[in-house]
Amino acid sequence: MFVVTSFGESHGACVGSLVDGCPAGLELNAGEVQAFLDKRQRNVLGSPRREPDKLEILSGVFEGFTTGAPICLVIWNRDVDSSAYEEIRHVPRPGHADYAARARYGGFNDYRGGGRFSGRITAGFVAAGGVAKAVLGRIGVEVAAHSLSIGRVSVGGEFTIEKVKRAYESPVRCADPEVSAKMVEEIAKAEAEGDSLGGVVEAIATGLPPGVGDPVFESLDSELAKALVSIPAVKAVGFGEGFGASALRGSENNDQFLSVDGKVSARTNRAGGVLGGLSSGMPLVVRVAFKPTPSIKREQRSVDLMSGKEVKIKLQGRFDPCVVPRAVPVVEAMCSIVLADQCIRCGLIPQVLR
Ligand SMILES: Cc1cc2nc3c(=O)[nH]c(=O)nc-3n(C[C@H](O)[C@H](O)[C@H](O)COP(=O)(O)O)c2cc1C
Repeated sequence: MFVVTSFGESHGACVGSLVDGCPAGLELNAGEVQAFLDKRQRNVLGSPRREPDKLEILSGVFEGFTTGAPICLVIWNRDVDSSAYEEIRHVPRPGHADYAARARYGGFNDYRGGGRFSGRITAGFVAAGGVAKAVLGRIGVEVAAHSLSIGRVSVGGEFTIEKVKRAYESPVRCADPEVSAKMVEEIAKAEAEGDSLGGVVEAIATGLPPGVGDPVFESLDSELAKALVSIPAVKAVGFGEGFGASALRGSENNDQFLSVDGKVSARTNRAGGVLGGLSSGMPLVVRVAFKPTPSIKREQRSVDLMSGKEVKIKLQGRFDPCVVPRAVPVVEAMCSIVLADQCIRCGLIPQVLR
């Protein structure tokens, strides 16, 4: 019911989202949505592309409130340099979508900067996520995300949502300043070697009452997984213990219940806040694994699709040595979009907010 359509290409006129189904009467502070969008950008190492990412809301908001009509969110592309892409127009980058996209669109796709397959399209996801966060704010649901690991450097410990929110103070979005510094070093090292790194982003959502979702097909976790795997470079998603649960015994994995002043809770949260496709009432905890950036500056082997001959390529463009820091608000946005949709669907959020 909260439907997000993504549009735009990396080196086209713009990127953005159309949000349909947002309740009317929501006070939408454009400055707050912009501030969220800025988190995909500011203080983050790595991306040499400098886009101001100024959001324009073209429709669906009147006198500061949503009207119930589609909300068109546009971010114009300003810092476009397609020169590095001409030499690889017919030579697909290993690990990127170039070859598969050419097959899918018969070569008509805009290949510049990765086109529709660029990480840049995630700016539109974040803008839509900013609207979703405002919707969720009306029922006290909060979502935050942080970097759990970059390459082989990871942060441990318990994370409250307050701690996770402070991760944006770190250039790599890590909640622990010491580990953050190590992550910064790790990225610099990989970059100096013409290489790239992946990592894991964790999102936490609090305030979700129990029972939100559906048992099958459009269950809370399947909808989240679908949205999160739609983020470019995501390779795995896990709820709570995730893959780790497969090595535990039932007695180790079950979250035993607890009653505090008549309110049912659980002693642990290995399920990550989802049971049977429904929210359990515990915080939602989901981890998202990103692969290393495919575009690297080392020599690699590919095929010239015009001649059919094997060739070597060495990329010269502007690439993120690690997409994880910029992906943190993207994960937060995708979770917010799905949760807003689920909360509207189950009637927690009415069609008109007063
Ligand atoms: C925020 C963000 C930024 C990205 N930046 C780059 C980049 O600079 N260079 C690159 O090769 N891939 C980048 N990617 C990843 C590619 O878009 C992605 O790997 C590619 O489309 C292939 O899709 P797949 O990895 O999901 O299979 C980025 C991804 C995200 C989420």
